[in-house]
Amino acid sequence: MIAGEAFAKINIGLRVGSQRADGFHPISGIFQSVSVADRLRLEHARDDTIESATGGSVVDGFDNLAFQAAAAVREVAGSTQPMRLTLAKTIPIAAGLAGGSADAAAGLVLAAELFDVGHDVLTELAPQLGSDVPFCLAGGTARVAGRGEDVAGMEPLQGFALAIVVPPVEISTPETFKQWDEMGEPEGLRTPSHTLPPVLRNEGDLLNDLYPAAVRIVPELDEWRSELERAWARPVMLSGSGPALFGFFVDHDEAAGAVIDIPIGTRFAEACDLSSVGWRITEV
Ligand code: C5P
Repeated sequence: MIAGEAFAKINIGLRVGSQRADGFHPISGIFQSVSVADRLRLEHARDDTIESATGGSVVDGFDNLAFQAAAAVREVAGSTQPMRLTLAKTIPIAAGLAGGSADAAAGLVLAAELFDVGHDVLTELAPQLGSDVPFCLAGGTARVAGRGEDVAGMEPLQGFALAIVVPPVEISTPETFKQWDEMGEPEGLRTPSHTLPPVLRNEGDLLNDLYPAAVRIVPELDEWRSELERAWARPVMLSGSGPALFGFFVDHDEAAGAVIDIPIGTRFAEACDLSSVGWRITEV
């Protein structure tokens, strides 16, 4: 039995280029793992099983990306031995926090342990599972480009914490990219560099180009963001295709204070620290 954690990510700026012939969009930005984590357990079993830690079913069943990841590793290992994957979700789904991709990256790692496969294979499998999976496998702080598969690790960021709020709505990533195309590839929401934590000021202004498309799909997103900006007296950014919103705070206590008064009805409101890893094995 192998158990581990899978950490969510935020996008500290996300630039998007015109759709490529393969349907994907070139992107660039800083990706950062954060301290919100799902927990996974993988073990040999009599039959293939995927279940939630509370005993219920899991979104997508056997199509769940974490199970697919583990199955891909098992195949590479040449094994047909059945396995049980147990998933305890904390990362909100369809939120722009890469929860499914984080689970997939952890699924790769846990399966590599269970089926005794080297980690170099995982780097090859990761982009086949999804654009955010290579980053989630690398974890920490990275400059990401291509469609998500070019991951260049950076010095870990430090000196700030985050308050993350997920409004009560789910947003589909493909739909957001499609909307962005249809809107004529608009430039995104700009966060001026002088408002950023000192460690990020060399990056210049940060933009998330998907913001106008996300707002076109969910118009209330702009109101929720403006409300948070008023309450927090600082810029609030969108992660990925949203709807997760976040602000920078000096430390965890300050971020914790900022989420106390968030209206009931949000899917998630938490103070988060930066994580230097995308996954962690907790039990072997
Ligand atoms: O790679 P992933 O399965 O996460 O992507 C889901 C969808 O999001 C893709 O099918 C594509 O429509 C869109 N996407 C994109 N450009 C990217 C990443 C995702 O257009 N760089």
